Amino acid sequence: MFQGKGALALAIGGALSLIAAGSVVADEPAKLVVNGEIEMVTETEAPAHLDAFDTIYSGWTFRTPETRMLQMDDFDNPAMVFVDQAAEAWDTVDGSEGKSCASCHGDVAEGMAGVRAVYPKWNEAAGKVRTLVQQVNDCRETRMGAEPWKYDGGKMVAMESLISVQSRGMPVNVAIDGPAQSTWEQGKDLYYTRFGQLELSCANCHENNYGTMIRADHLSQGQINGFPVYRLKNTKLNTAHARFKGCVRDTRAETFNPGSPEFVALELYVASRGNGLSVEAPSVRN
Ligand code: HEC
Ligand code: HEC
Repeated sequence: MFQGKGALALAIGGALSLIAAGSVVADEPAKLVVNGEIEMVTETEAPAHLDAFDTIYSGWTFRTPETRMLQMDDFDNPAMVFVDQAAEAWDTVDGSEGKSCASCHGDVAEGMAGVRAVYPKWNEAAGKVRTLVQQVNDCRETRMGAEPWKYDGGKMVAMESLISVQSRGMPVNVAIDGPAQSTWEQGKDLYYTRFGQLELSCANCHENNYGTMIRADHLSQGQINGFPVYRLKNTKLNTAHARFKGCVRDTRAETFNPGSPEFVALELYVASRGNGLSVEAPSVRN
């Protein structure tokens, strides 16, 4: 059901005070080129499965010039220190098998190029769609004999970022057909489900009202091509699931947990809405 901007303002009521309705699309996007060499696609034609838009935009497009600048050079990007820590972890032996990630995958730049762009992905042996985080923990547990890392804990989100960096600039291209299709459909259903006392779905905000101001925040299309994201607000890296959790909570609903089957399905669906945008992680947001 289409819900216009007026209806959203009403639905949100006093709970989330809508500051002002802005233009439909953010300021004309300056080009995002990282380190003067990695050219990012921050605006492109919507994937065929998505009827709602003609054009999809990276969340980068909606941020202030100051925040956008932080993502243009790795020396300014506050997330890169965590990526460096993960690079150390990549080479560090852990667990009963005496292995590090490098023991099997070699140099991270070679072993992990292109991986981020296709996750979440169907895993045949597991018989389900896996997020990158779940895959890393599977390697830790079954291949290394090591303890799994907390789903959205600091070590994991740093490792997810390190792996993602190896795909920067490549187009997001998650598969939504074949064995992944039913998970994708589950995620799509969730995207359009109205949650909480405010009875708002993801689509009510990120599809029908992107480009407007909400609580002094410029509303984006809610894309996840930039995740993990360094947020200036909490000064750390954040997983997509942590962001989903915050957004569901804002509707005054009970939320799902990071790593839950619901959020795995939602991640696949939301990722597919960004097929064609560049992998930007780790990006910087407010
Ligand atoms: C003992 C060897 C071994 C170790 C050690 C290991 N892995 Fe793996 N890893 C594998 C194998 C084999 C696969 C393919 C498994 C599959 O498809 O189920 C894999 C798959 C992956 C994938 C998915 C790649 C893709 O193309 O889909 C990622 C990401 C990954 N590993 C990350 C890690 C990280 C991070 C570590 C260290 C914390 C690690 N692995 C440690 C053997 C290992
Ligand atoms: C009440 C409105 C509202 C609802 C409903 C909502 N969000 Fe959000 N969301 C926001 C605001 C505000 C932000 C911060 C500004 C931005 O990045 O769009 C945000 C940010 C995000 C981001 C970060 C985008 C980026 O580039 O950093 C993602 C991803 C996201 N939301 C996904 C979702 C999903 C999935 C749902 C449904 C489970 C959802 N949101 C529901 C308001 C909402």
